[in-house]
Amino acid sequence: MEFTRLVHERASTRAFTSDPVPVADLREMARLAGRCPSVNNSQPWKFIAITDKALLTAMAVAVRERLESLLPAKADAEAKRIVHQVIGYSTFFDHAPAVFAIATRPYEAVADRVLLNSPVTHGDMNRLRGQPDVQSLGAAAMTILLAAQDMGYGACWLSGPLVARDALEAFLRIEAPWRLGTMIAVGKPAHVTAPSERKPVQEIFEVR
Ligand SMILES: Cc1cc2nc3c(=O)[nH]c(=O)nc-3n(C[C@H](O)[C@H](O)[C@H](O)COP(=O)(O)O)c2cc1C
Repeated sequence: MEFTRLVHERASTRAFTSDPVPVADLREMARLAGRCPSVNNSQPWKFIAITDKALLTAMAVAVRERLESLLPAKADAEAKRIVHQVIGYSTFFDHAPAVFAIATRPYEAVADRVLLNSPVTHGDMNRLRGQPDVQSLGAAAMTILLAAQDMGYGACWLSGPLVARDALEAFLRIEAPWRLGTMIAVGKPAHVTAPSERKPVQEIFEVR
């Protein structure tokens, strides 16, 4: 699909048909995401495709339980509605035929080589540089969304489930130094989702 059209037509998909996503397609999405730029070309990512329904269900249950423990159980209807919505947007991935869990790990920065015996840590430098590890992961995640769209699938980026990061890492056997970075649900869209509104370009673009 032509790039401009691809960008315009992409919309987060949260309802999927039961059609499976062939492993070859998931591998191709991961391959394309692996082409992304990353800090120091560290490629600090692993793309774990989850298609096991029981595993996805267990993960969603863990996320729901964590959110229920985090969000106050208020009696009023509006608070209940919000909690219900947050849980829904964080757990719908259990209905997706495939979910990417993108794992990330600390990268070795060039500057790290001069930090030995210095009070400044890798973490300090990473924060000062605007978390290039997270920026790299974002590039990879966006590429999966576009690759999925290009291949006729719908997808949705999910950070909500990370509230249960420890439990999800245990389910997925993600071990240090790897961490669960983000997740993306993928599948054939159950219906066409209209692209959502965006700010006009004159509001988001300036030249200095
Ligand atoms: C970093 C990030 C985290 C997101 N987390 C969630 C999430 O947990 N659950 C969800 O339903 N959508 C999530 N989204 C999708 C956004 O809600 C969506 O991209 C936004 O509303 C714009 O809609 P569009 O993708 O259809 O253009 C996330 C998007 C990004 C970029």
